[in-house]
Amino acid sequence: MSATPSPQSTLLQALNGQAGAPPPMWLMRQAGRYLPEYREVRAKVPSFLDLCLTPELAVEVTLQPLRRFAFDAGIVFSDILVVPYALGQSVAFVEGEGPKLDPVRDGAAIAKLDETGADGRLAPVYETVARVVAELPKDVPLIGFCGAPWTVATYMVEGSGSKDQASARALAYREPETFQRLIDILVEASARYLLGQVRAGCRVLQIFDSWAGSLPEDQFERWCIVCTKAIVDRVKAQSPDVPIIGFPRGSGPLAERYAQETGVDAIGCDTSLPLAWIRDRLQSRLPVQGNLDPVLLATGGPALETRVKTILETLGQGPFIFNLGHGILPETPIENVERLISLVKGGPA
Ligand code: CP3
Repeated sequence: MSATPSPQSTLLQALNGQAGAPPPMWLMRQAGRYLPEYREVRAKVPSFLDLCLTPELAVEVTLQPLRRFAFDAGIVFSDILVVPYALGQSVAFVEGEGPKLDPVRDGAAIAKLDETGADGRLAPVYETVARVVAELPKDVPLIGFCGAPWTVATYMVEGSGSKDQASARALAYREPETFQRLIDILVEASARYLLGQVRAGCRVLQIFDSWAGSLPEDQFERWCIVCTKAIVDRVKAQSPDVPIIGFPRGSGPLAERYAQETGVDAIGCDTSLPLAWIRDRLQSRLPVQGNLDPVLLATGGPALETRVKTILETLGQGPFIFNLGHGILPETPIENVERLISLVKGGPA
């Protein structure tokens, strides 16, 4: 035990509304295939889900990016699709193809989902959280996460990833009450999952709504805003002090309503949102996170330097968390991540 008071987390300061120079930074999907040490651990397990649900290995891969880089937060190594798995749906990650699930497309399949067993099946994730938190310095919080109900439902209904989320959109139009039942189950399971991660030691939460951008306004309101608010309310009722970052990817101008109406403490901005718009319409109300293009990070060079400078100039005056606009790409060179950190943190040129 150290006698000196531990330094404050810069991420928590930003989430509390303070502008910091340099801003805190972490990267979505910061643990993953761009790291050789990740690929080495990944090769030891037959399936990606095994990696998520084996605490010893999940702890290791969560910590890997933090050993290499001066990130200001960790994020639990898991996936948004552990929730459908925990509800008893079959979930597999097929090499080179992405996730495959047994589709849930009607009332009978929804009725078969096992809500009561979910917490038990997620216990390995909670164990991972507790073990990681025990290893991290006190000023580096661990972020817990879940997928938003809409985004998770798109995978559950389609049975895989999809270009336009058409199966879920069609089900929501054709049988809104059936789709609502699925969404209600996901709201409850996701809130419980987030609270479980908080109990295990996470001090920040993020809700990934990766496919928010595929919905028109009325559907966005019903399936993104209302459901995210339900989760936020449910989590805040028990853990009012744990900040929640919402990431409604692709929502465009609807991000403003999302920021005002869901109750999230901060908003993650994707690559397509204009910086001045983020500053004027979002950051004027709440802390913002984002939004460097992951392709630019993978590309590097002078274009990366110029863009990072512009982002910092435009958003650095208010509460801001530097991040990508979407997950880091597997082909990203490690030197580019190092360069990014020195550009943001002001290290050697
Ligand atoms: O950020 C982190 O470091 C934590 C880990 C994390 C993963 N997935 C690990 C992962 C997080 C936060 C996620 C979120 C996630 N998963 C989202 C939301 C964010 C986003 O990217 O839009 C979504 C939509 C998923 C679903 C998912 N998981 C897909 C579509 C795929 C296959 C595509 C791919 O990149 O391979 C995954 C697999 C996955 N999740 C990997 C990792 C590291 C790659 C699997 C492998 O190592 O073989």
